[in-house]
Amino acid sequence: MDLEQIYNFAKEKLETEGTGHDWLHALRVEKNAQAISPSELSPSDVEIIKASVWLHDTIDPKLAPTHRVTITDIQGLLNQARANKKESQEIIEIIQNISYSKNLEGKRSLSSLGQIVQDADRLDALGAIGIARAFYYGGSKNHALYNDKKARDVRQLTEVNYREHASVLNHFYEKLLSLKDLMNTSLGKKMAIERTKFMEEYLTHFYQEIEMKESID
Ligand code: ADP
Ligand code: NI
Repeated sequence: MDLEQIYNFAKEKLETEGTGHDWLHALRVEKNAQAISPSELSPSDVEIIKASVWLHDTIDPKLAPTHRVTITDIQGLLNQARANKKESQEIIEIIQNISYSKNLEGKRSLSSLGQIVQDADRLDALGAIGIARAFYYGGSKNHALYNDKKARDVRQLTEVNYREHASVLNHFYEKLLSLKDLMNTSLGKKMAIERTKFMEEYLTHFYQEIEMKESID
């Protein structure tokens, strides 16, 4: 398949994205995927992973319409890039099924390549870069850094209350700190645990600096 065409399509769509699902995110996810992939993947598997990684956020409903495309667009792109039927099917299946919100509705089954892409994407929500992305996303949506609600309790609130009390700090508890328990690959899990430790340390400093009494344990 013509990977360059897929690369250019995704790059053009995501380059100016402003919520942290931008092209640099896609490139970091590609690196993560490389780092956690077993060495015995075939060249075709590697191509499927790359194409899925570059395209994975272009169909995310959270993205503004200018950065978003439909599955029909993706199908057209893959046809143009001469992906064969198996490659197209797998790429489309992966990008439709890796998102966290999709998996909240019920865990989606993922191929072994899909599991690598999902872990690679999750790793970019963790560690120093994950912290940066969370605050960047929150800023783009006008969320507070934190508020007077106990950050951890937000997980128990209903959807309406959640939005009312949304802060970036809440997002650590409702999602980011538990991603490590959802990892598919052993190397991905190991990296996720390391990155999460750093986030916990960060939170300890955060609370000290704003003099909140809450601790992370
Ligand atoms: P997925 O595609 O797996 O559902 P998302 O697109 O929801 O993942 O999130 C990816 C990135 O956006 C993460 O880095 C995450 O921290 C950030 N993000 C998403 N929702 C929020 C939120 N409510 N507050 C802060 N950051 C968020
Ligand atoms: Ni992503």
